[in-house]
Amino acid sequence: MSWRATVLTLFPEMFPGPLGQSLAGRGLERGIWSLQADDIRAHTTDRHRTVDDTPFGGGAGMVMRPDIADAALAAHADGRPAIYLTPRGRPLTQSAVRRLAGGPGVVLFCGRYEGIDQRVIEARNLEEISVGDYVLSGGEPAAMILLDACVRLLPGVMGAAESAEDESFSTHLLEYPHYTRPAEWQGRGVPPVLLSGHHAAVAAWRRAEAERITQERRPDLWALHQSDLRARTVVTGRTAP
Ligand SMILES: C[S@@+](CC[C@H](N)C(=O)[O-])C[C@H]1O[C@@H](n2cnc3c(N)ncnc32)[C@H](O)[C@@H]1O
Repeated sequence: MSWRATVLTLFPEMFPGPLGQSLAGRGLERGIWSLQADDIRAHTTDRHRTVDDTPFGGGAGMVMRPDIADAALAAHADGRPAIYLTPRGRPLTQSAVRRLAGGPGVVLFCGRYEGIDQRVIEARNLEEISVGDYVLSGGEPAAMILLDACVRLLPGVMGAAESAEDESFSTHLLEYPHYTRPAEWQGRGVPPVLLSGHHAAVAAWRRAEAERITQERRPDLWALHQSDLRARTVVTGRTAP
């Protein structure tokens, strides 16, 4: 059974968009995952196909109606996690991506306007996920980000050449720098250890660089990494390599 993604959106023509290319696109073609974009407006019942209304309490903007959002969600309620993409959600992390990629798939609700009525979030027990501390004009690019991150982890999507094991966030560390030919470019060389052929020394250099970069740029991740190390020391009595 392939991993199934359903996107509820007012702009179904935006999909597959970038997800039809490269790794994700090849995975789609090969049936490793499937993507269905369902038009929220198709779940309206009035002549004008209205999906939004003015906010109770006043204020600028429009709110997506709970009855329409609920009808769209009900049409795909089959046990997959139902997610509302919103700047108010918990930040999307690699561990959340791994959890979602390990399940049967996802149903993603893309908001527009000021977002959806709170009651449908509660009634449908929607998981709220944000792709970052900035405001997009709609949930569609956020859905693409979430799907791209999940799909590349599905078995068979990435080849051995694109392993996810060593990547940023795999142990709460950012990735070390990469170099390729030419060995000298615009007067800039390559760290000599990478040309040494000494695998253990290369691994140690990469590890040290990953630690340095994480410490410099992301003190929050560095703290998580340190607490992982402490936990492993307690369990095994040894410090992790
Ligand atoms: C203009 S935004 C609404 C912003 C909302 N009024 C607020 O201040 O939180 C419209 C829709 O874009 C999506 N969106 C915007 N920024 C997002 C983010 N950082 N992560 C996930 N979805 C986002 C959500 O689906 C949202 O309902």
